[in-house]
Amino acid sequence: MPIDTLPYEVPVAPSSARIRVAGLIGTTIEFSVLLALAGLLLLASVLPTRGAALDASLVRRGRYLAIAGDCVSCHTRAEGKPFAGGLAFHTPFGTVYSPNITPDPQTGIGAWSELEFDRALRKGMGKNGEHLYPVFPYPYFTKISDEDVAALYAYLQAIPAVKYTAPANDMTYPFGQRALLRVWKSLYFQEGRFKADDTKSVTWNRGAYLVEGLGHCSACHSPRNYLGGEKADEWMTGGVYQESLDDRPIDWSAVNLTSGENGLRAWSLQDLTNYLKLGYSPHASVHGPMISVVMNSTRNLTREDDEAIATYLKATAPNGPNDSRPPPEHLVSVGETLYSIHCGTCHLPTGLGSDSTAPPLAGSSVVLAPNPASMINTVLRGPVLPDQPPSPEWQNRKWQSMPAFGEKLSDEEAAALLSYVRHAWNNKEGAVTAEQVAKQR
Ligand code: HEC
Ligand code: HEC
Ligand code: HEC
Repeated sequence: MPIDTLPYEVPVAPSSARIRVAGLIGTTIEFSVLLALAGLLLLASVLPTRGAALDASLVRRGRYLAIAGDCVSCHTRAEGKPFAGGLAFHTPFGTVYSPNITPDPQTGIGAWSELEFDRALRKGMGKNGEHLYPVFPYPYFTKISDEDVAALYAYLQAIPAVKYTAPANDMTYPFGQRALLRVWKSLYFQEGRFKADDTKSVTWNRGAYLVEGLGHCSACHSPRNYLGGEKADEWMTGGVYQESLDDRPIDWSAVNLTSGENGLRAWSLQDLTNYLKLGYSPHASVHGPMISVVMNSTRNLTREDDEAIATYLKATAPNGPNDSRPPPEHLVSVGETLYSIHCGTCHLPTGLGSDSTAPPLAGSSVVLAPNPASMINTVLRGPVLPDQPPSPEWQNRKWQSMPAFGEKLSDEEAAALLSYVRHAWNNKEGAVTAEQVAKQR
């Protein structure tokens, strides 16, 4: 799909020079500045098309990069204007609201210089040098190249300005003090641009740049310690992501993206590319928190870029902790019976599913995630699917709709059933407890 058909409006680029000139005129200007200004205007009248064309292509590039970085998903609240901010992020340290990043000079970033913007994106610092919370994925954006920062800046200065101020952050003591973030940064933030690996292909390097930088996949897909720092040796082996449901936080398991036993081992390069581009593969449809990632970001990237992401992920070292202790015997037999009553017709007794019924549960990364939250959510409420088809090809998916089982299964029954699913066939992952099910209801 061409990037021009994105769901949010993108204006033709006004010349950024014009914006700066307009800003200058409002202030008292020295004569020398006026002279320079006259020169600039003269130059602009001589070379109008060239400057505008240069700007337009920079803005277009910035727009594509903003898609790759999925800025819009975080910087747009429900019913709000794109990029105007106000979305709440509940963290263990309090609630952070995304700010307005439209070019409104008072409430957005219209008065920010490119240098200030760069400092926010790659060093995690606000306009006045204050430290920013790492919910803003600057620990990944620090890898973005100079050219890409410039293009993103040009784009964000060209979108419609919206007057809106997000609510103030509501942090628990003492995390409201931004100065404390200096300590966090010294432990977990490493500033530095992406460095290409010459021993790898161009495609691999492009994928690495997108996954580790703009795409910030690891923000959700890596486990974290109690201070919210990523556990480096368990990179991409599965994290927990919280989303609000009726105003309370609900866990989701962002699965292992390596080719480890509970990861994407069974996915081919094409399966993974299709999932990102079309919203489904023979292994899974996009559901839950991945919906905004695929709908606003990956499906709007070129197929080559999605393939680069897949190439890089498929090449990562297989990794992933798993708990291979079998669940207690009585749980298994109860679970097996419940599975054949409720799930077997679609996911089949072999757990392999079929093109005309359902995707496989044998080897599914959602089933085998260290934290079973996503699987529990899917069973209790049915899969949360996108409101619109992510791609025209989506209609070729011939699976039967999975119903919700929350009313049909008690916590104990669901725990037995899911413990069975996590240990049937070749699956090997720890049992699910009734408490874990209750927590997700
Ligand atoms: C995962 C959510 C998320 C994504 C994705 C994200 N941001 Fe943000 N951003 C935030 C939050 C939250 C803050 C506020 C942090 C704070 O208050 O310390 C923020 C702050 C900022 C700021 C500082 C603004 C200010 O007023 O201090 C800028 C600039 C910014 N983001 C730009 C971007 C751009 C450009 C992208 C895409 C390339 C992007 N963001 C993607 C969540 C996000
Ligand atoms: C906002 C958090 C978040 C971000 C960012 C994110 N993911 Fe995910 N992802 C999830 C969750 C949660 C799941 C588990 C499926 C579910 O429950 O929705 C998932 C599942 C997946 C799956 C497996 C789907 C399945 O059903 O087996 C793939 C593949 C994937 N993500 C790739 C990516 C890639 C590539 C990126 C970066 C471009 C990325 N994700 C960024 C949260 C995220
Ligand atoms: C009527 C058919 C049907 C039944 C019955 C059914 N499912 Fe599903 N299930 C699906 C389909 C289809 C999907 C994929 C989502 C989609 O594309 O609609 C799915 C997805 C899933 C997923 C997510 C897999 C992944 O990797 O993303 C899990 C886990 C799951 N089902 C478990 C179960 C369990 C456990 C039961 C029994 C309690 C069950 N399902 C019953 C059709 C079914």
